[in-house]
Amino acid sequence: MALLEVRRIFKSYHLHGKRIDVLRGVDLDVEKGELVSLIGASGAGKSTFLHVIGTLDAPAAGTLHFNGRSVLDMNDAEIAEFRNRTIGFVFQSHFLLPEFTALENVAMPALIQRQSPAKAYAWARELLERVGLGARVDHRPGELSGGEAQRVALARALVLRPALLLADEPTGNLDPATGEGIHQLLRTVNEELGITAIVVTHNAELARSMPRQLRLVNGQVTAA
Ligand SMILES: Nc1ncnc2c1ncn2[C@@H]1O[C@H](COP(=O)(O)OP(=O)(O)OP(=O)(O)O)[C@@H](O)[C@H]1O
Ligand SMILES: [Mg+2]
Repeated sequence: MALLEVRRIFKSYHLHGKRIDVLRGVDLDVEKGELVSLIGASGAGKSTFLHVIGTLDAPAAGTLHFNGRSVLDMNDAEIAEFRNRTIGFVFQSHFLLPEFTALENVAMPALIQRQSPAKAYAWARELLERVGLGARVDHRPGELSGGEAQRVALARALVLRPALLLADEPTGNLDPATGEGIHQLLRTVNEELGITAIVVTHNAELARSMPRQLRLVNGQVTAA
């Protein structure tokens, strides 16, 4: 059984009397343990697709199953619980909390889950070291570069060891060497933590370095 089974997903936006058909019958299976890149032109619908499969946004039609469980049949409380427990997000904008340090931002999801603070902070610190920010743990988001903030957001997305990581251009603000480092980190968490990941990127070379490559075009997901 696939970890993620997406069938005939449709999603449109309606704005100023106009309809934009973004997802037009997306089909996709992702097996547990896969590391997948997703490319596609700007505006093709990559972020929309991640939001839909991450249950942040409801599709107009279609089905979504995780480990055989129909997500779209859950009620709001069940979906929220499922999302917290299963999915880690790295958004295109980092959405870090400005008044907290990098370490606090990364540990926050674990603290909200009432994990022991000592454990939460130790793991958060290790993740920050892994993304190359061991020397920035006490910086607030306003005291970080754009790429550093994005790396903090990646560490935060990993702190609960999600079954599925959805990363929307985690290397978008990074120089090539740091970007390659992040992709290396994604491969490591994929292999060592068993985290399945879908990574949106505009970097064709990094996309090709992933074991499986997808492209979003004409509202559908195909092999790249
Ligand atoms: N809330 C919204 N209301 C109306 N249209 C929207 C909304 N969000 C996105 N769109 C439109 O839907 C299309 C897909 O947007 P999306 O953000 O998914 O693209 P993307 O592939 O992630 O692009 P990029 O690579 O630039 O991030 C775009 O044409 C965008 O203008
Ligand atoms: Mg996007």
